Amino acid sequence: MSDKPLHPRTRAIHHGIRRSQYGEMAEALFMTQGFAYDSAEQAEARFIKAGPDEFIYARYGNPTSRMFEDRIASLEGTEDAFATASGMAAVNGALMCFAKPGDHIVSSRALFGSCLYVLDVLARFGVEVSYVDGTDLDQWRAAIRPDTRAVFFESVSNPTLEVVDIAGVAALARAVGALVVVDNVFATPVYSRAVEQGADVVVYSTTKHIDGSGRCLGGVICGTRQFVREVAEPYLKHTGAAISPFNAWLMLNGLNTLDLRVRAQTDSALALARALQDMAGVSRVVYPGLPDHPQYDLVQRQMGAGGTMIAVDVGSKAAAFAAMDRMRVFEISNNLGDAKSIVTHPATTTHSRLTPEVREGLGITPGLLRLSVGLEHADDLIDDLRQALA
Ligand SMILES: Cc1ncc(COP(=O)(O)O)c(C=O)c1O
Repeated sequence: MSDKPLHPRTRAIHHGIRRSQYGEMAEALFMTQGFAYDSAEQAEARFIKAGPDEFIYARYGNPTSRMFEDRIASLEGTEDAFATASGMAAVNGALMCFAKPGDHIVSSRALFGSCLYVLDVLARFGVEVSYVDGTDLDQWRAAIRPDTRAVFFESVSNPTLEVVDIAGVAALARAVGALVVVDNVFATPVYSRAVEQGADVVVYSTTKHIDGSGRCLGGVICGTRQFVREVAEPYLKHTGAAISPFNAWLMLNGLNTLDLRVRAQTDSALALARALQDMAGVSRVVYPGLPDHPQYDLVQRQMGAGGTMIAVDVGSKAAAFAAMDRMRVFEISNNLGDAKSIVTHPATTTHSRLTPEVREGLGITPGLLRLSVGLEHADDLIDDLRQALA
């Protein structure tokens, strides 16, 4: 066999399989919380040090979950990964596992509401958090200090689709030895080159594109073996963050088609974003794949495509609600990355916890709609929005 590295799309289907003695083709679902030992001595030995194919308890690890972890680590280009019960368990775990009172973390301001909540929790326990405009490298430069422990950001932010220069921020962080933690949900593993660009830890809500059909919750923390197994795992396994083996099995299934789905959804998102620019009632279209996106060049360099999400401003809450209520193909919901297209009104749902002033500062205006573009025919999506906005 040639030594030529396999493409990500191929690895997403084959990498990390652990076959049982039956030689099954599909990944086996080990729906078990525990594992029987041959002897008391074996149990003792396994608690001292478990080998790579030895398991103790599903909160610590499980063969199906491990297949998912190995496969996603291979896609992301990291040595290892730990799969969690949800995306928020991953964000919380990735930061909480190392933070201690007195630490300093710099974060971009434009984050998903629950990510902001986790940073508030850290602040409650004595971690100092400085917020910056993630798109402004000078603000990162000014905020990162010799004692900064970590930087955190969403590489494409929820819901305003701001893009952070990963390589630029990583260089500043590296200079002071700070860890670079990236929530890469919107970029997806298909367009993520975060590790190549200097990220140390990448987290995903696998609830989104990786499951891809809106069936279950999941998350994952990708990083070096040392970070994942020595820093993150002790925190995650003792605080109950592990993914259900059933959900890991569904996620493995999702990975089979991830590349095809995300690329098709991205093609439709670009067509839809272009069409929206000429639609009645639309005051602003934000799509990272449109040349008028403020960081278009960075998007091309960093991701190579605009992704599956669009933000569109229709002027007011009343206009946004009226349009949502008229949509027939887009579902009103708050997941994203699903095969079904979804419309969300962030100001009254995902970001409703924030004060109106903070929302306004983040560009989450009352008329802003977040669109997650699914796998339907692009023409049907365009027609749906045109009639809803007319
Ligand atoms: C950027 C981002 N991070 C994390 C999460 C949390 O994921 P989960 O709902 O799987 O906990 C979400 C969910 O919307 C998200 O958009």
